[in-house]
Amino acid sequence: MNVRFPKNFWWGAATSGPQSEGRFKKRHANVFDYWYEVEPEKFHDHVGPTTASNFYNSYKEDIQLMKKIGLNSVRTSIQWTRLMDDFEKGTVNNGAVTFYNQVIDEFLKNGIRPVINLHHFDLPIDLYHKYGGWESKYVGELFVKFAEKCFELFSDRVTDWFTFNEPMVIVEGEYLHQFHYPNVIDGPKAVQVAYNLQLASAKTVKKFRQNNRNPKGKIGIILNLTPPYPASNSVEDLAASNYADRWLNQFFMKASTNGHFPEKLIEVFKKDGVMFDCSSDELTLINENTVDYLGLNYYHPHRVKAPEISPNSLTVDWMPDKYYDEYEMPGRRMNVDKGWEIYPKAIYDIAMDVKNNYGNIEWFVSENGMGVSREERYMNPQGRIEDDYRIQFIQEHLYWLHKAIAEGANCFGYHLWTPIDCWSWGNAYRNRYGFISNNIHTQVKTIKKSGYWFAEVSKTNRVEI
Ligand code: NOJ
Repeated sequence: MNVRFPKNFWWGAATSGPQSEGRFKKRHANVFDYWYEVEPEKFHDHVGPTTASNFYNSYKEDIQLMKKIGLNSVRTSIQWTRLMDDFEKGTVNNGAVTFYNQVIDEFLKNGIRPVINLHHFDLPIDLYHKYGGWESKYVGELFVKFAEKCFELFSDRVTDWFTFNEPMVIVEGEYLHQFHYPNVIDGPKAVQVAYNLQLASAKTVKKFRQNNRNPKGKIGIILNLTPPYPASNSVEDLAASNYADRWLNQFFMKASTNGHFPEKLIEVFKKDGVMFDCSSDELTLINENTVDYLGLNYYHPHRVKAPEISPNSLTVDWMPDKYYDEYEMPGRRMNVDKGWEIYPKAIYDIAMDVKNNYGNIEWFVSENGMGVSREERYMNPQGRIEDDYRIQFIQEHLYWLHKAIAEGANCFGYHLWTPIDCWSWGNAYRNRYGFISNNIHTQVKTIKKSGYWFAEVSKTNRVEI
């Protein structure tokens, strides 16, 4: 079947500053730069973010490759630790301003829409050491200061802005499951951090609108949605799955789109004595500053069942995920390398959820993708990676996305993670996701089979599925 996508559909890919640029000439360190300095063994093969995929030095060539594979839009981020000279005074680093100006101009010159995200897991380490990072609302104020600088400097040309990428991953990585520095395990703190992130996002939205610098400008948030599917229709499994959805998805979705946190979740927080600290002025601000649109990242679903240990009220080790357990559904299809389930239909379920429960707000698939390790296994004698598995993965997701759009979903684009193989946090370069491969020793970049395939998709606006 050959299907057509809506006019002006965004065919693109996503990356981030800290994962692509490299640390070159960066004035400050973020939490990952710092973590790599103190514990390099925590990173796959001890590879850190120092060079990443060298975008800082090779952005012109990289953008040519992106153009060649037909990307009409690319998301990256502006690094807080690069742009700002002094976080509190709000002064900027002139070299960084020049760099981002050149990058934005280069994208535009090549017919690629630059989509800019403001926070991609890259909290300045100094703000953690001094103030406790996202545990502090003051750090949220400093973030708004940085965001405002970005709007002032770049919104004459950039129309598409996002406040945070995957705030729930910040909460999980930093405060629950120890995959982001500072590696704290503290459920109540995690809840407060989630709230502080939402508050900082709403304040950024407010600032963006106050100074409304470009009438075409829009602002949103990028959320990773992991739809939970219950193990059975038993009352217990359904309750577990509903709770998981409220915590993992609805917390940021509802607050960002309709200005309220999910009531039933708040009841649980109150009952368990872990309600976050908030004032009525803050709640009004969140309520009044919802987003224009959304980016939704989708990789895998959650398979959920009632918890084995019955959840009691507040204990010293209260955790937000004590109301559900995850289980390995027999027969599920896995991406063995990454350890994530492949379930393309969830993209349809997400689209219908947005349509039915979030006022059919405009959104795009801001990340989807397949991490594969030792991809050189699939390299042909000419040095090109024959990643048919990635083409199939994308086709299957586009099949469900197309069906959802035909049924009224308000989705305007699809971005793969990622244009060029880039550095991925603790996993470093273990799994590769790109349309373009990157030899991390030589920084030689080569378009994969999927890149040529995507160029055709983008050119024709059609996909064979
Ligand atoms: C989501 C994140 O936004 C990105 O930083 C990460 O590398 C990809 N997922 C792949 O895991």
